[in-house]
Amino acid sequence: MKFGRVKPLDAILATAKAKSLEPTLGWFQLTLFGIGCVIGTGIFVLTSAGAQKAGPGLMLAFAIAGVICIFAALCYAEIAAMIPVAGSAYTYTYTTMGELLAWTVGWALILEYAVAASAVSVGWSGFFAGTILSEFLGVQLPTWLSGAPLALGGVEGGLINLPAVLIALLITWLLMIGTTESARVNAVLVAIKVTALTAFIGITLTSDAFDSGKFNPFLPAGVFGGFGSGLGAVGAAATIFFAYVGFDAVSTAAEETKNPQRNVPIGLIGSLLFCTIFYILVAAGAIGTIGGQPLMGPNGVPFPAGSEELARQCATFAANQLPLVCSDEALAHVLRQIGWSGVGNALGLAASLALPSVILILLFGQTRVAFVMSRDGLLPESWSKVHPKWKTPHVITAITGIAVAFAAAFLPVGKLADIANAGTLYAFMMVAIAVMMLRKSSADYPRKFRTPMLWLVGPLTVAGCIFLFFNLPIDAMLVLPIWGALGLIVYFGYSRSRSHLGRGVVEVVDLDHDPEHTPNV
Ligand code: ALA
Repeated sequence: MKFGRVKPLDAILATAKAKSLEPTLGWFQLTLFGIGCVIGTGIFVLTSAGAQKAGPGLMLAFAIAGVICIFAALCYAEIAAMIPVAGSAYTYTYTTMGELLAWTVGWALILEYAVAASAVSVGWSGFFAGTILSEFLGVQLPTWLSGAPLALGGVEGGLINLPAVLIALLITWLLMIGTTESARVNAVLVAIKVTALTAFIGITLTSDAFDSGKFNPFLPAGVFGGFGSGLGAVGAAATIFFAYVGFDAVSTAAEETKNPQRNVPIGLIGSLLFCTIFYILVAAGAIGTIGGQPLMGPNGVPFPAGSEELARQCATFAANQLPLVCSDEALAHVLRQIGWSGVGNALGLAASLALPSVILILLFGQTRVAFVMSRDGLLPESWSKVHPKWKTPHVITAITGIAVAFAAAFLPVGKLADIANAGTLYAFMMVAIAVMMLRKSSADYPRKFRTPMLWLVGPLTVAGCIFLFFNLPIDAMLVLPIWGALGLIVYFGYSRSRSHLGRGVVEVVDLDHDPEHTPNV
């Protein structure tokens, strides 16, 4: 199953060989790195959207999405350790399934990372406006400056999400001037996030407000909410899958890991298992205290999350009576509701501090994929120009940042997360296929890590990704083929004739001077 030109594995590996990083990471650092990349808007904010889709069944949704991610992570680890070059899923597909499919994966990854960065920017904005501005400084940002328009799934009176635009542009600027996050900063931010969530779990689960009756009915929208509705436990799983996005960064650290055969799976599975259990406990605490039943429409079906009808319903509640499903800063809101305002505000502060690093990791991922595609000749080569002083691909970073800020300005977090998930699921599926194909075609290449039971784990990953994709809301599902069609127009109209591979130029770059390689984002 190869479409068009295939980039020779030897050329890619020669590129990788030029680089010799000391293996320094152990399982603990790897796990910490994973947690740092993963915990973000998904748990701090999307808990509301997840509850609107599944009610208390949100806990089941976290488990479903977590298991699928663990399978995908095991596939990622093998290929990442074998072909340790930037561009990840795009590069793996290039060498196994050819340029055309690689293009579609790269194109989908652009959607994944950029839109995910927008989603986290919007998630951050909720905490910034609600905690920093309103609670700490007593400043109420006008609605038209703090939310997306109602017609796009935002809020009544919303026009533009200014804080989200500003944070996206700020992080873009930091990346342009060459900022990357050090392992130490990551460790501090992980500690902040984990402490905030641990406090949340401890307080809510032991609170007098906790009532097991709030978990009834457990599945008010059923397990399957119906095709295209995005509802039910699996609909919620497709949305809160976002809470696990970013773990691929751990797999890409495989070649810097001591004893990768042992430490990579521990790091990947460890961080994902940790997050899965944590997420389920957080959901239990939120739902058990203030309840998590969806707001139901006239026909007994929950209003779609992010819909105009839901926004109108939410507008009828007083701020201190707001149900979980309506809140922009879900977890801080729960704590405030049960009389722990101080800790709620501290949690809001923790989210405000920690979420920008997730935006940084996602934007970094996006610019590097686009950078590699541009260097391959598939996107304009001027985009991969490296700044003489900053040593960063500043052009592509700026273009990305502006697009990310634009999406963050006008779309609500739930819609953005769903769209990002669609791209991610496609990329993960292709990675699983690429791993299986390489086991056949390049059986003798050395592998630092082999996916255990690949012939079970691989197909399960593919099936899991397809399953979650078809449980997204219909509009998010449609974005992928529309975006894909646009991509094909660009490919056949522009990229195909300019491809370096097509023109016989397959370069091996000097990785010591290659900005794509910045370990430890
Ligand atoms: N998993 C990351 C988050 O939830 C993208 O923010």
